[in-house]
Amino acid sequence: MSSHFAIAIDGPAASGKSTLARELARRLGLVMVNSGAMYRAVTWRLIEDGVDLSNETAVVSALEAMEIDCGVDGLSSTVSIDGVDPGEALRSEQVNGKVSQVSAVPAVRERLVALQRDYLKTADVVMEGRDIGTVVFPDSPYKIYVDADEAVRAQRRVAIGEVDSVADRDRDDSQRKTAPLKVAEGAVILDTSDHTIESGVDAALEILRSQGLEIREI
Ligand code: CDP
Ligand code: CDP
Repeated sequence: MSSHFAIAIDGPAASGKSTLARELARRLGLVMVNSGAMYRAVTWRLIEDGVDLSNETAVVSALEAMEIDCGVDGLSSTVSIDGVDPGEALRSEQVNGKVSQVSAVPAVRERLVALQRDYLKTADVVMEGRDIGTVVFPDSPYKIYVDADEAVRAQRRVAIGEVDSVADRDRDDSQRKTAPLKVAEGAVILDTSDHTIESGVDAALEILRSQGLEIREI
């Protein structure tokens, strides 16, 4: 049994998960793991290789040939595929448009969930995604479901100049058969619509305290 713990942060697109997870990692000295980056990296590689994403057999065989390396740089997770870190390409319009389709493939999820769980072998983590509290670490007592009004979330993407159909991704992520986005048992909902980043982090620390986490800020 690992003695390390995980804080699970889930929620829809642009709800503020990454921002919250990054700040919690900084203030509590944890490793921040962006699980979405892993799904994005696999999607990026499949697109680069011209794989027909509607053909699940083709996706699975391309996946099997991929070398996926997950690591840590400072307090943040890293991901590379066949030795390449896709960097900014992870958030391209093409990847935004296809990542939900790729993430719905059970074999993709199985491979990435195993890599996500491996982080607990070496570190305490705050991990953000869609199924962290439901599937990756269902036994963790520390779970937050981050949400925000749909209009606020769409505006947040526009504000940083990203082309991203947030509503389509949310629909696909919530309706898929395997590991759909939903509020995990034991998770507390944090709506960030009217929060600043700082007040959102304070609210999250309150929730984690109520879930029994001993907060020791560094
Ligand atoms: O940051 P943003 O909310 O835009 O998305 P992300 O966290 O980078 O995740 C991108 C996509 O990966 C999501 O829309 C999901 O389709 C998928 N994903 C997932 O299926 N499970 C996770 N644990 C994390 C992401
Ligand atoms: O990871 P996810 O897609 O859920 O969202 P994000 O990339 O962390 O945040 C989306 C945007 O909302 C960022 O530009 C944040 O600066 C902003 N924001 C926030 O995260 N939390 C607030 N309370 C207010 C704004």
